[in-house]
Amino acid sequence: MKLNVLLTSLLLTGSAVAFGKSCPISIDGNDQMQFSTKELHVAADCTEVALTIKHVGKLPKNVMGHNWVLTKAADMDAVVSAGIAAGLANEHLPKNDARVIAATKLVGGGESASVTFPVAKLKAGESYKFFCTFPGHAALMNGVLTLDTPAGKKS
Ligand code: CO
Repeated sequence: MKLNVLLTSLLLTGSAVAFGKSCPISIDGNDQMQFSTKELHVAADCTEVALTIKHVGKLPKNVMGHNWVLTKAADMDAVVSAGIAAGLANEHLPKNDARVIAATKLVGGGESASVTFPVAKLKAGESYKFFCTFPGHAALMNGVLTLDTPAGKKS
């Protein structure tokens, strides 16, 4: 009996480690074509990011659509162009594009959307950008995502 309790607690501890830490990040987009921040940080102990974008404006998504797309900084311009070409019917996102690390669907006023991705997709020291791929938005709607290094360690 005691052994069963011990084994059960060991299994529970093991699964908690395996699931890791999911870190929620929130960002808003508005009717003035702006994100609420130009800078996002992923803490060093996160194993997963759960990103939520909320459109706090009133305009519909075919007029003032917003999404949250993450790529390496070097891939941003090409993915923005591919997103415009993909069209509204495809949420302004190129399909099966390996350069897209994570992306939400496109939202209009009052709507929100989420995406979850493993932190293992990010490399320390790499430069990442997030942006909106709705035509004409990325020039204003973009920012830097940084994977923080563990305290006391140098990147
Ligand atoms: Co937008």
